Amino acid sequence: MRDNFGREITYLRLSVTELCNLRCRYCMPEDGVCKKSHADMLTEDEMVTAAKAAAALGITKIRITGGEPLVKRNILSICERISDIEGINELCLTTNGTLLKEFAVPLKKAGVSRLNISLDTLDPEKFAHITRRDGFEAAAEGIRAAVEAGFEKIKINAVLIGGFNDDEIVSLAELTRKYPVDVRFIELMPMYDSGDFKQDAYLPVDAVIEELGSMEKLPGNGGVADLYRLPGALGNIGLISAVSNHFCGSCNRIRLTADGKIKPCLHSDVEFSVKGLDFEGMKAQMETAILGKPACHDPLSAKERSHAGRNMNQIGG
Ligand code: GTP
Ligand code: 5AD
Ligand code: SF4
Repeated sequence: MRDNFGREITYLRLSVTELCNLRCRYCMPEDGVCKKSHADMLTEDEMVTAAKAAAALGITKIRITGGEPLVKRNILSICERISDIEGINELCLTTNGTLLKEFAVPLKKAGVSRLNISLDTLDPEKFAHITRRDGFEAAAEGIRAAVEAGFEKIKINAVLIGGFNDDEIVSLAELTRKYPVDVRFIELMPMYDSGDFKQDAYLPVDAVIEELGSMEKLPGNGGVADLYRLPGALGNIGLISAVSNHFCGSCNRIRLTADGKIKPCLHSDVEFSVKGLDFEGMKAQMETAILGKPACHDPLSAKERSHAGRNMNQIGG
């Protein structure tokens, strides 16, 4: 359905858990999440009902997120049931990749058609620093497993962090010449007020354009990334200017958090609960949420943090 600003809402980001086996500094606090009571979280049946309600309102694409969706015990069953819903043409999943060695093939069998995988650095020590966990080898193996399992259009997400991975823009981008994957550079969104990142940690995606001079600009595909390609590359470079040039005008998505809140906008704390509701109740709440979607979020900067009211792991990216 259309929102009040004429935007057709066709994409639901469904977070299945707030938990994660990593602790990325820009996403969640070191001591993890204060585990909410099990009773407050959506059950598998509620997630499936919510996905059906979303489909009834014209959602055609669902992306499973988290936290880390692959730490969720019943993730394969959730994917299988959602991929079977009439009207859902595309089931995608965003993961940190560390569990993909085990899960890539089963996910494909469960109906997941595309994977986006987070990887901010190619240096194992820097990986351990940014994620506060050792996991580089597992993530690298996971990416290889995803390619071998035959997933198409795999996207590697790297959050751009000044003083951390700005010296790896070229080496990360070079992955698109070696492997059939897209590499996307994402501007760091000021979500979590941990003080871990100072103002100079934020880097605009223009820094990538400067660094990779020889890129060809490609036509947009309706996603959040501006697309480019290195000469002779197998995959694209995507630039996600979430801070320097927001894409609210063409936003086609709503979010459902693991504790059952519809968020019409990533950077707003306005939420509509579907926990405990039946199909009709959920559909009505989603309709209200879509009609309540703001035209645009407030500006973001190092001083103006997001008004989301949650850390990224509690929203789903
Ligand atoms: P595709 O289906 O491949 O287009 O994936 P995607 O880019 O929608 O999803 P992904 O989970 O890979 O997210 C990539 C980055 O874009 C993450 O940092 C998200 O937080 C960010 N992102 C996704 N949607 C939005 C949005 O609506 N607004 C903003 N500001 N950032 C978003
Ligand atoms: N800014 C930008 N991207 C973020 N992600 C998590 N937190 C942030 C943030 N503060 C990214 C992850 C993952 C995606 C779902 O969101 O790296 O790739
Ligand atoms: Fe986990 Fe992803 Fe957050 Fe990192 S960015 S802590 S991998 S949910």
